Amino acid sequence: MSTYLFHDTPDTARSDGAVMLQALAGMLDPFSRRQLRAVGVPPHARCLVVAVGASRIATTLGEMTPTGEVIATDIDLTPCRRHPRVALLRHDIVRDPLPDGHFDLIHVRLLLGHLPERHDVLARLGAALAPGGVLVVEEFEATWRSSVLAAPDIDEADRLFAAYHDAFQATLVAAGNDPAWGRRAHHAMRGLGLHVDTSGWTGTWTGGSDGCLLPRATAGVIRDQLTTAGMTPADIDAFCDLLTDPGLVVKGNLALSHIGHAAPTSPTSMSHGG
Ligand SMILES: C[S@@+](CC[C@H](N)C(=O)[O-])C[C@H]1O[C@@H](n2cnc3c(N)ncnc32)[C@H](O)[C@@H]1O
Repeated sequence: MSTYLFHDTPDTARSDGAVMLQALAGMLDPFSRRQLRAVGVPPHARCLVVAVGASRIATTLGEMTPTGEVIATDIDLTPCRRHPRVALLRHDIVRDPLPDGHFDLIHVRLLLGHLPERHDVLARLGAALAPGGVLVVEEFEATWRSSVLAAPDIDEADRLFAAYHDAFQATLVAAGNDPAWGRRAHHAMRGLGLHVDTSGWTGTWTGGSDGCLLPRATAGVIRDQLTTAGMTPADIDAFCDLLTDPGLVVKGNLALSHIGHAAPTSPTSMSHGG
């Protein structure tokens, strides 16, 4: 099993883990859908969605490809949406072989940054593209430190977001996450010989909405790791309370969508840009 930070959460954190995945879907699915429409997925396309979580990416692709095929994978299928046109596959992208054959479109969102093996996985995904196929890698630039636009006590809110940012970053790095991966994915995809276009998007969120429920649920799932990294339990509680306060307004993290096109004639090589 891989070292994914949010894997094997204790039962008491189960509901926070589910809220986290739902919040990600609520925040990012509209952006990802716009990106997929811009790519122009043909009706017969064969698609692979890696680590689908609770997102609607695979169901969207199922609707876009009435004569194609959509396989969606995750190590935990519990939160995944069911759809008659989507084949769900319990699958560890680090350890398990990819489904046979080549794909016209491969989508992976918010996973590779967590995996120490991200370059090897990316290279395998690139090699699984059909000629002219498209690899979509979507990641955050995590900037919680500079999020607060308005709050009942803006200095205190800035302090709590800074404490969360620092402890979360330390926790991510300790778990093998690369904080620079959000933008470096572009460089790595170019190293596979793909032609890469990158688009960015962010939103503005009020307390209690998806963009605030995401860090609230995340703090619940990794509470112990945050305290180990120096955030006090009192600050975690105050941070979680603040995130449901309707007086809070934050700007979201920048989401980056890297769209890599393989050459039309041959699958990409296995080499990567390290
Ligand atoms: C941060 S969530 C993102 C979920 C979804 N892609 C989204 O953007 O809404 C990461 C997902 O990766 C899955 N995951 C973690 N490690 C994995 C692995 N080694 N292979 C496949 N999926 C994995 C988790 O179960 C979780 O659903």
